[in-house]
Amino acid sequence: MKLIINLFALVIIASGLDEDAVKELKCSAVSSPDSGIDLKWFGSINQFYVPLWNQLYATRTAADLLSQDARHIPFEAVQPASCLTMNKDSTISGFGRQVKYNITGDETSITFRAPWSGAKTGKFSFHMMDNKSYVLGATCWDDNEASWAVLSTVQNLEPKSRTDILKYIKSLGFDENKAVDENYAYCGLNQLLLTPISYNSQQQHLLLSPYYIYFK
Ligand SMILES: *[C@@H]1O[C@H](CO)[C@@H](O)[C@H](O)[C@H]1NC(C)=O
Ligand SMILES: *[C@@H]1O[C@H](CO)[C@@H](O)[C@H](O)[C@H]1NC(C)=O
Repeated sequence: MKLIINLFALVIIASGLDEDAVKELKCSAVSSPDSGIDLKWFGSINQFYVPLWNQLYATRTAADLLSQDARHIPFEAVQPASCLTMNKDSTISGFGRQVKYNITGDETSITFRAPWSGAKTGKFSFHMMDNKSYVLGATCWDDNEASWAVLSTVQNLEPKSRTDILKYIKSLGFDENKAVDENYAYCGLNQLLLTPISYNSQQQHLLLSPYYIYFK
């Protein structure tokens, strides 16, 4: 009975995603990468997945793709997985939407901007990569907030890669507990799961994803 009351209380006070609660580091606190990337490999990939990233990145990307202030995005809209893909034609798909970004790049970074976020750009600097299945980058946003994400050719990182990546982001000063593992197993053919779901099914999803911490 107590559990039911608690879940009910969560539903009542749910307001949306909370960006302030998931901010971590300022850009200036993140050291510069010291290794290069194999651009030929990177340029040859048609589609990247994002199996691991931090909560701030997930929140901002949801806002960009859903064209809404994060506070107005109900928790259910981002459940239970982003299903994000970054495609060679500069489109980003996820959260049930597809948006064409303005993306430019050089040998150390990608600079990107979504139409909805207007002048707010992010610069994704390559930090750690195996030149065959993933690249970990840290993004510095125009408002001096830093976040990180892994672009990968595979939906599930090798356990060793995941461990190495988490160790690395910790060394940069990010919080391992604010990492989000994405689960592409939820991403069905028609992405039915991506359409906003009713509060009735929310209790079930609460148990499935680290997004529950977005509740306040
Ligand atoms: C990736 O490729 C770049 C460019 O060829 C190279 O400098 C770097 O050492 C490579 N990194 C790994 C981990 O293989
Ligand atoms: C895309 O970004 C580049 C580099 O920042 C900029 O020069 C260009 O005007 C942008 N294009 C659009 C359509 O925003």
